[in-house]
Amino acid sequence: MSIEIEIVTGDPAWPRVKPLFDLVWPPETVAQLPWAGVEFAHPDLRVIVEVDELPVCHVSLYRREGIWRDRPIRIGGIGGVLTHPSFRKQGLASVALDAALHTLRDERSNDFALLFCASEMTGFYTSRNWKPYMGEVFAEQRGARVRFDAMQPLVYYLKRAPHEGELDLRGLPW
Ligand SMILES: CC(C)(COP(=O)(O)OP(=O)(O)OC[C@H]1O[C@@H](n2cnc3c(N)ncnc32)[C@H](O)[C@@H]1OP(=O)(O)O)[C@@H](O)C(=O)NCCC(=O)NCCS
Repeated sequence: MSIEIEIVTGDPAWPRVKPLFDLVWPPETVAQLPWAGVEFAHPDLRVIVEVDELPVCHVSLYRREGIWRDRPIRIGGIGGVLTHPSFRKQGLASVALDAALHTLRDERSNDFALLFCASEMTGFYTSRNWKPYMGEVFAEQRGARVRFDAMQPLVYYLKRAPHEGELDLRGLPW
């Protein structure tokens, strides 16, 4: 069995990972999730874990200059965390998340990492040092600036880790 981790540009790699998304999040599953109907940004980068050349785990990365408490702040976004059902509990999502955080840290410009998840998934992240963000988050949806509270925001310390206050993503969420 060969395992490879790649970090690739977001849009061109979409066809490679679409079958994995369709398997984990088919439309009928998404319809039941808190983020059904949310308009998401396209990722800048993707972490793809392949086992014997089959993409089995994925994490998306986003770079965004947001506004926190009226000042610009550089956010490293993380999303699209998913593992093929037959490859779970082998540490693949943990490895992919670590690779994503290393990438964001190595870029040096990102102040903190931010992800959004369903409330029942927060334990997965808080056991990996992510902390709940307690403030209000605003984002773009269908061209308007709206309060974004469909999911729980979680932050991870890079240079700093704000936990409260108004945070504007200045664009689509992820
Ligand atoms: C969540 C998910 C990405 C984990 O992938 P994975 O490759 O199995 O993750 P890892 O092997 O690195 O870690 C698995 C551990 O996380 C734990 N875990 C999984 N879901 C959890 C949850 N909802 N709450 C707390 N812990 C959770 C597992 O029990 C396991 O713990 P163990 O190693 O002590 O047995 C995978 O279950 C998945 O794709 N789920 C469906 C998509 C999804 O919900 N993605 C998250 C979106 S925010």
